[in-house]
Amino acid sequence: MRFCERWFPSEKGFVKRRVALPDLAAGEVLIDAAAFGINRLDTELAANAGALGTDATLGLEVAGTVAALGAGPSEFKVGDRVMALVKENGYADRVVAPAGTTLKIPDRLSFEQGAALPEALFTAWLNLFELGALKAGESVLIHHATGGVGIVGAQLAKALGASVAVTSRRPENLAKLRGLGFDGKTTDEFDAEPGAMGGFDVILDIRGAQSLDANLSVLKTGGRLVLVDSYTGEEGKINLGRMLDKRLSVQGSLLRPLTLERKSVTAAGIRARALPLIESGKIEPVIARVFSPENIGEAHALLAANGHFGKLIVSLRG
Ligand SMILES: NC(=O)c1ccc[n+]([C@@H]2O[C@H](COP(=O)([O-])OP(=O)(O)OC[C@H]3O[C@@H](n4cnc5c(N)ncnc54)[C@H](OP(=O)(O)O)[C@@H]3O)[C@@H](O)[C@H]2O)c1
Repeated sequence: MRFCERWFPSEKGFVKRRVALPDLAAGEVLIDAAAFGINRLDTELAANAGALGTDATLGLEVAGTVAALGAGPSEFKVGDRVMALVKENGYADRVVAPAGTTLKIPDRLSFEQGAALPEALFTAWLNLFELGALKAGESVLIHHATGGVGIVGAQLAKALGASVAVTSRRPENLAKLRGLGFDGKTTDEFDAEPGAMGGFDVILDIRGAQSLDANLSVLKTGGRLVLVDSYTGEEGKINLGRMLDKRLSVQGSLLRPLTLERKSVTAAGIRARALPLIESGKIEPVIARVFSPENIGEAHALLAANGHFGKLIVSLRG
């Protein structure tokens, strides 16, 4: 029987518990974790810890070393440095991950940088290039491009030949995006005059209702609006005449509930087209801050307060 140390939210902060791990199934990878990423879903689940008891299983992404493999052929071997997207239980020192959503960490990256990538890479690839069908020569607007998804998405889109514009609520974060080579406006400026940023083939949005009309107004003919969150509301009014005139589409997605088979399709695209760009340095994971496991609560508070630029990571390497 194998065990891991796992961190759980409680009303008194995060507590560490020793937990038995199931036997590895075929197609699974056991990872000795060196770092894991913090995501908004984790903060939302932890905020409900009172209601969930201390069994909320947080953690969607992890980086470390392959410790064991389930039966059957595998592209991995014990000792490989890997990063993985997991459905739960990533806040731990040992994590069972599906091989289908596990990727080798490019040699030049640290474990902390590796842990900053899975959720951002899968979300950006699925929504920009699969659902959004963004192509070289097209233009994309990424709203609130100041977390992992937006920063990695902007870098991927640029590296693959799209022109990229961004928004943020905060001028100081826009300045940081300019430092990475991306121009944009504050969301207030966008709301006041959406057309001032030009037209776009694809828009990646997290605001939802409040920016729905503005987003559709600045999509070019054949444009695609893709939603990965809906902070300002889930119900909006759509001008169907505009949809017809411009052949527009609106899509949304949640990554976590997708089947492993569907996620593996996205992983294949990432392996073939995104990982080489990371290896060559065209995509650089941006980390806002690295925390120790004793400070997971502080990391959650920082994410909930916003204002950060890049990913919040917990390192287990002391
Ligand atoms: N659908 C999916 O499967 C999926 C998967 C992963 C992530 N997501 C979502 O994608 C978004 C980006 O994720 P991430 O991890 O890259 O970023 P993040 O670190 O969670 O946040 C990115 C930025 O979003 C803006 N933001 C946060 N709360 C907001 C609110 N209430 N209203 C408007 N803007 C807000 C802030 O930007 P500024 O203050 O700079 O404007 C923040 O820096 C999040 O909303 C996340 O929930 C969805």
